[in-house]
Amino acid sequence: AKIIFTDSAGTQREVEAKAGTSIMEAAVQNMVPEIDADCGGACACATCHVYIGQEWLGKLKTMDDMEESMLDFAEGVQDNSRLSCQILMSDELDGITVKTPESQ
Ligand code: FES
Repeated sequence: AKIIFTDSAGTQREVEAKAGTSIMEAAVQNMVPEIDADCGGACACATCHVYIGQEWLGKLKTMDDMEESMLDFAEGVQDNSRLSCQILMSDELDGITVKTPESQ
């Protein structure tokens, strides 16, 4: 499924991700900037913080407690903020739009 990343400067990058791959993993594998993912996907660092396109928010699984409390450590959190290591791709999310923050 396709993920469309937009970085803080407005540059778009399209990435292909297999079902079951997290948005963070897809970003790292494809050298998408502005996702640090220091903890490697263990939901323990908040440096994989991204903004999800509003129209996609309803299609995502709701945040669990761990993601919610870790997200408190991210900078510039908005109502569409999520941790990208906690979102697994599926066919349903094909074409999802994800904005990356300027700093993590
Ligand atoms: Fe560390 Fe997502 S990679 S919380």
